[in-house]
Amino acid sequence: PRDKQELMDGIRRMKQEKNAVILAHYYVDEDIQDLADFVGDSLGLSQQAAATDADIIVFCGVHFMGETAKILSPDKKVIIPDMNAGCSLADSAPADKFAAFKAQYPDHIVLSYINCSAEIKALSDIIVTSSNALKIVQSLPADQKIIFAPDANLGRFVSKKTGRDMVLWDGACIVHIDISLEKLNDLRAKYPNAKFIAHPECQEHILIHADFVGSTTALLNYVVEQPETEFIVGTEAGILHKMRQAVPNKKIIPAPANENNTCACSECPYMKMNTLEKLYNTLYYELPEIHVPEEVRVKAEASVLRMLEMSK
Ligand code: 13P
Ligand code: SF4
Repeated sequence: PRDKQELMDGIRRMKQEKNAVILAHYYVDEDIQDLADFVGDSLGLSQQAAATDADIIVFCGVHFMGETAKILSPDKKVIIPDMNAGCSLADSAPADKFAAFKAQYPDHIVLSYINCSAEIKALSDIIVTSSNALKIVQSLPADQKIIFAPDANLGRFVSKKTGRDMVLWDGACIVHIDISLEKLNDLRAKYPNAKFIAHPECQEHILIHADFVGSTTALLNYVVEQPETEFIVGTEAGILHKMRQAVPNKKIIPAPANENNTCACSECPYMKMNTLEKLYNTLYYELPEIHVPEEVRVKAEASVLRMLEMSK
């Protein structure tokens, strides 16, 4: 293909010919979001991956998301545009170190944020996402001891909200921890009527200023449902696309990142590895494909299915 239009036409054609479904996270490129069959947060995307009757799942997000799709739909071919699209949270928890950490707390159950590898999921009892973590923790018996991994910021947020003490693994999202409080304060002074909304992967010193904290889907719904017309959004800037499509007359302002960031707003370098050209090639060659060893997959599936059951 020579240009963007040819790439997009080719992607649509191959998707039909091959009975493939394109699942995309809100943080990927706008054109990919517009081509996708479903755009959602981590929970919504895993529910779609579990339910699809397509032969091929093309996952435009990051590696752990494609892996989760394969865990839930082992008979489907799961392909992703770039094998190097990782995640700082998943990378923070290598399986051998995590197994040793877990062994120190034998009477604790392990709750892991979905942003982790299949090996970590296999070492976990229940997976959570940012849309169901509070509900799942609250549903556990009060005396149940809990390890929460790998996102310490989400863990602290859940702990504060539920009053539950949890042992935290010290991982972080490089994008959300880079939101600048100083620049946020300047922006709030400039737009005094704007609501500030944030993702729970942000640090506590940012979250304490938020009018609302939630997953990407929850943030999108909030902007649509609330009567206010100005919002400062503390998460990866890809979400702004769907917000602006949904409420074109409202002012949606990205929360600024620190100086060292390549973009004035917050962008995830891993999510941005998904390009139209790579998506085209992925569909054309049906590569690269995600594989999960069956003994890991079966254990990981049990913890993900527990989450899906508890999110109903
Ligand atoms: P959610 O879309 O589930 O809120 O997750 C955000 C995220 O950082 C995904 O990598
Ligand atoms: Fe991982 Fe953060 Fe990028 Fe999401 S935004 S994929 S949590 S590094």
